[in-house]
Amino acid sequence: MQCAIICGSHRKPSQSAKVADFLQQTAREQTTFDRFYRLDMADQPLPLWEEAIWSGDPAWKARLNPIREGLKASDALIVISPEYHGMAPAALKNFFLMLNAQLVGHKPALLVAVSSGPGGAYPIAELRMSSYKNNRLCYIPEQLIIRDVESVLNPEGENDPEADTYFRERSVFALGVLEAYAEALAQVRASGKLFDERFKNGM
Ligand SMILES: Cc1cc2nc3c(=O)[nH]c(=O)nc-3n(C[C@H](O)[C@H](O)[C@H](O)COP(=O)(O)O)c2cc1C
Repeated sequence: MQCAIICGSHRKPSQSAKVADFLQQTAREQTTFDRFYRLDMADQPLPLWEEAIWSGDPAWKARLNPIREGLKASDALIVISPEYHGMAPAALKNFFLMLNAQLVGHKPALLVAVSSGPGGAYPIAELRMSSYKNNRLCYIPEQLIIRDVESVLNPEGENDPEADTYFRERSVFALGVLEAYAEALAQVRASGKLFDERFKNGM
């Protein structure tokens, strides 16, 4: 199975990318996900959404086609969002404008929030509320909030032993839940009941 990992940080390097690396490696070792499509907003910043996307502009096609292929081939997504000013980052919200149900509809997604302090709840609430309506992405009920991120999941250097163990174990659990949903929702997508030209967008 293939898993897409979307890293929403604008920064390079970033703590969210560190978390993305950790989750990718852990998923490879602990789940049946064996292929990964990785998209970091900091590496491939997308211009703000514009009307030309809908009129088949060649520059936008060239920009978006590799992303579309990566998402289409994925059975599940991990969406990683740092908390910026109590919000999901603008790059991530802009990215969601470019998705549709043909790419991610009825695929399970694990939300992961990242905070250098005790934050992280706001982007989870925001994305659960507002990013899935038209593209029909299915956020699973399990989520990860990596608080005090600088003190955990560091491949080298200092980790807080208790917090680090907790987040590593919790991540294995959350990835297992995502894997189970990926297997189950593949059957849902095969049902033939999910797309209707009359109701392309959610209410
Ligand atoms: C513009 C900006 C705003 C931020 N606002 C918040 C915030 O509201 N709450 C929070 O917990 N952390 C906030 N942070 C700190 C991030 O949690 C921190 O940068 C963390 O490392 C995750 O971001 P990163 O993946 O870009 O490194 C903010 C960081 C930036 C750059």
